Order: sequence, then structure tokens, then C-alpha cells
Amino acid sequence: MKLTTYHVLHLSSIIVLLAYTFYAFAAPAETRKRVVMITGVAALLTFISGFAMLGKLHLGFPGWVAVKLVCWLGLSVMVSFAYRRRAQADAFMLVSLVLAITAVAMVFVRPF
Ligand code: HEM
Repeated sequence: MKLTTYHVLHLSSIIVLLAYTFYAFAAPAETRKRVVMITGVAALLTFISGFAMLGKLHLGFPGWVAVKLVCWLGLSVMVSFAYRRRAQADAFMLVSLVLAITAVAMVFVRPF
């Protein structure tokens, strides 16, 4: 597949992952199964497209990708906190935002 395809897939799955993660913080409990499934697929596609781009670009595994991987892991598990810890929703939403912004910044700043 072309690099552009992975770029589009990466960004699209991140949009879905973030949108449904933030929805989860306010969604009724009965939506949990569906939302966990959607964010799970989106997280998997983000991961696959990210590593596919790494391969295509012959970048190896630089430090900024390691940071993105940690952000990805944090965002992927956030949905379970969103349904189970409603009282701390504000804090978890802030953490989600910080993780997403850090992951985006890593692509452009590449400090390591
Ligand atoms: C498994 C985790 C991830 C890996 C391995 C990964 C890897 C990559 C790679 C290799 C690129 C292309 C860089 C280039 O074109 O030179 C990229 C682009 C990008 N990534 Fe990730 N990424 C991951 C997770 C994330 C997450 C969690 C976010 C945001 C929440 C994110 C946001 C972006 C953005 C905004 C771009 C630039 C837009 C684009 O050119 O498509 N990534 N990522």
C-alpha cells in the first residue's frame, strides 16, 4: 500500500479513537460494549498504520516513536476508565488531551 494510504488511515483512526474516547466520558453505561469495540478497532488501526509508515520511511525505532507508543497505550486504555471512573472524568479527559497533543507534537518536533 502507498504511504499516503497509511497517513490517511493513521489520521482517520486517530480521529475515531479520540472522538469515541471523549464520548465515553459522557455516554450512558449501555453504550460501553459498542464504544469499547470501536475504540479497540481504531487503536489497532492507528498502531498498524503507524508501524507501516515507520517501515515505509525506513526510520527504525527513534525516541519520538517510543513516546508516541506510550501515548497510544494510554489513549487505548482510557475508554475503560471513562466508564468506570465517572467521578474523575475531568482528570482523565485532561490526561487524554495531554497524551494526544504529545503524540502529535512528537511527529513535528522529533526531539529524540
Ligand atoms: C503506535 C503508535 C504510533 C506510531 C508507531 C506512530 C507513527 C507515526 C509515523 C511513522 C508517522 C509518519 C511520520 C512522517 O510522515 O514522517 C506518524 C504521523 C502522525 N501521527 Fe502517529 N504514530 C502512533 C500514534 C499516534 C497517536 C496516538 C497520535 C495522536 C493522537 C498520532 C498522530 C500523528 C499525526 C498527527 C501524524 C502526522 C500526520 C500525518 O502525516 O499523517 N500518532 N505517526
